Amino acid sequence: MEPLHIKTPLFESHAMTKLAGFPVYLKLENVQPPGSFKIRGIGNLCQKAMQRGCNHMVCSSGGNAGLAAAYAAKKLKIPCTVIVPGSTPMFIVERLREEGATVEICGSSWDDADARTLTLAEQPGYAYIPPFNHPDIWEGVASVIHESAAQLPEKPSIVVVSVGGGGLLSGVLQGMHSVGWTDVPVVAMETKGADSFNASVQAGKLVTLDAITSVAKCLGARRVATNALEWTKNHKIISHVCSDKEAVLACDKFADDHRMLVEPACGAALACVYERLFKVWQEQGKLGELKSALVIVCGGNLVSLKAMKEWKDQLGLS
Ligand SMILES: Cc1ncc(COP(=O)(O)O)c(C=O)c1O
Repeated sequence: MEPLHIKTPLFESHAMTKLAGFPVYLKLENVQPPGSFKIRGIGNLCQKAMQRGCNHMVCSSGGNAGLAAAYAAKKLKIPCTVIVPGSTPMFIVERLREEGATVEICGSSWDDADARTLTLAEQPGYAYIPPFNHPDIWEGVASVIHESAAQLPEKPSIVVVSVGGGGLLSGVLQGMHSVGWTDVPVVAMETKGADSFNASVQAGKLVTLDAITSVAKCLGARRVATNALEWTKNHKIISHVCSDKEAVLACDKFADDHRMLVEPACGAALACVYERLFKVWQEQGKLGELKSALVIVCGGNLVSLKAMKEWKDQLGLS
């Protein structure tokens, strides 16, 4: 079966290379038709669910995972129900409906919507589509590294990703191990207030955050997948928490430098370069010499020029 994601461009960013002092390559997942890298994992999971005989997808994400599930179901000609909390912006509800999904608004938080989703998924032929915690998702996400390895002129010295629930991190690491990049460190970026991976790394066990307070709502998994934390035992991962200000500023600079708009969830990864963190870690002895970096531009739909202005006003960046 043909995958549901597209092969995305990879290019060297002139502006970021200048800042870092070595080539910085960007893998443009923001140009995936459903707006983010999520289609790689969710698309793979939906295809496999269909092969297992499912005839209805049900997903509880009002974010990029829900949009990817609706897109995948439409492509596979299977009905899809997306259950979202009342806090989901109306333009996302409309976009989900435009993709052909049935949208149900349930409760005030993701937990309420997810509980209803799990009940619905018990019906015969229904498949529960989680946003990040499934081996088929990680397998699908790994393709971003297979593709990058074929596009890059050389093995990168470091790979940068954002972390929400850890599906992107898990898939990227799986891909890196399958192409032999076992010695390439990974930077796992989060924002303060959505830093469940960092909290778990610090504690040495899974930590559940009380609440998500960051503007990077799509990084807002209160608890990461166990698998993501397990990877810290087998791979060098630098976990870093940036501020909302740094993430939004990175989106702003990225838009000016590359003429593309991405969510603060993606801005967290970009902040690694814009805040010159490689240099900081080198000075601290955490990193050696770097010849090039690969940044996964995960994208995201929950952004607009209006939203950017509001975040900048709110954070005193205007
Ligand atoms: C744009 C964007 N970037 C990054 C992430 C984090 O991905 P994960 O939850 O797999 O860690 C998400 C999650 O929804 C997202 O929507």
